[in-house]
Amino acid sequence: MLSREDNELLCRVGPGTAMGEFMRRYWIPAAFSQQVEDNDGTPVRVKLLCENLVLFRDTQGRLGLLEEACPHRTASLYYGRNEESGLRCVYHGLKFDVDGKCTDAPCVPGDSNVLQRLKVKSYPVIERGDLVWAYMGPPEFKPEFPELEWTMLPASHRYVSRHVQECNWLQGLDGGFDASHLSFLHSGQVDMRKGRTDAHRRIIPTHYEVEPLDFGFACAGGREIEDGAIAWHVDVMLLPFHKIIPSVPKGAHVWAPIDDENTMLYSINFDEHKPLTEETLERELAWRGIHTENLPGSDYAIANKDNEYLIDRALQKSGRSYTGIKGLGVQDCVMQESMGPIADRTKENLLPCDAAIVKIRRLLLQSLREHQAGKPLRGMDPKGYRVRSARYTQSKDIPFAQTVEQHLRSGTLIAG
Ligand code: FES
Ligand SMILES: [Fe+2]
Repeated sequence: MLSREDNELLCRVGPGTAMGEFMRRYWIPAAFSQQVEDNDGTPVRVKLLCENLVLFRDTQGRLGLLEEACPHRTASLYYGRNEESGLRCVYHGLKFDVDGKCTDAPCVPGDSNVLQRLKVKSYPVIERGDLVWAYMGPPEFKPEFPELEWTMLPASHRYVSRHVQECNWLQGLDGGFDASHLSFLHSGQVDMRKGRTDAHRRIIPTHYEVEPLDFGFACAGGREIEDGAIAWHVDVMLLPFHKIIPSVPKGAHVWAPIDDENTMLYSINFDEHKPLTEETLERELAWRGIHTENLPGSDYAIANKDNEYLIDRALQKSGRSYTGIKGLGVQDCVMQESMGPIADRTKENLLPCDAAIVKIRRLLLQSLREHQAGKPLRGMDPKGYRVRSARYTQSKDIPFAQTVEQHLRSGTLIAG
């Protein structure tokens, strides 16, 4: 459990909050590049960290991410005219360039003072890995873009989708590093006599480790196999909200907070060596993997809270599916959203299998304290993000902390 105060500290992401200011020191995904493909095309509404923004590509192909409210009388710039190197508010015609500078004020002809005085807040953006990313922190602290492997590959080597989770970002992150749920929530087989999964006996971890590293942490589940060896499955958490998964093909998640009660979950499959095969894409896009099938033209999954995620109780009873709910992504969503918009962690009763979650929250709280004390932040070195998740087996006499980083850096991925 967490105290009410600590829960608030970790969950709230608006301007001026501890977590909000911390997250603003990192690059945050804002939209798909494809949404703003055309110069002078339709602007896109974006909400990040409780701020309403509008993204557009100008005549020269430059991207601008501006506060949505026009600084004149706060009408929405989303309805604006994207023309001749700027976005023009259609209320009284003020025009702003990608840097937020007012470049034309036809409602006050000849008043150059207005041009100097009026500015709309703008944030730097960069395009990486099919996405547009924003930096919303103090300009003097803007880091280089992190060398996340999946963003550096040719487009054919990855598939990126997204959907809205109607809950706080930390419920998503907690779920992403919840090692023991895999053998229950995502299980397809039920042992009817014992009411638990077959997979449970095979793969539930007996060892949990969270090791702080420069970029965030390594979060591992291990189980003892023959000869006194431990088979480790190591997920990587990269600050402030990334996860790399040691699946085949590899996976990644980014939980980008829209506001305190909504999160845009980006889900990625990637292969560092070759384009994703037809077969992989077909399997992933049959919504059996980490992606969700969304309502047409929407970021909301077809299976959602309003239709009880299309739960099939007969299927659940039959034992062929543990949940009766289709798709890993939706299954995660159900549990995470069912805790409410912001989970009340004062009511939790954590168990030994939640060890990783406890450690991760502690590390995040520590990171917030370090940030507030003006200490250097972890994860500012772009090269630090060059890590892979890993699966490996090693003698239980070797301490986990001693070798984990070496494994993550060398990309020890074995099929399975
Ligand atoms: S409100 Fe935008 S120009 Fe007046
Ligand atoms: Fe899950």
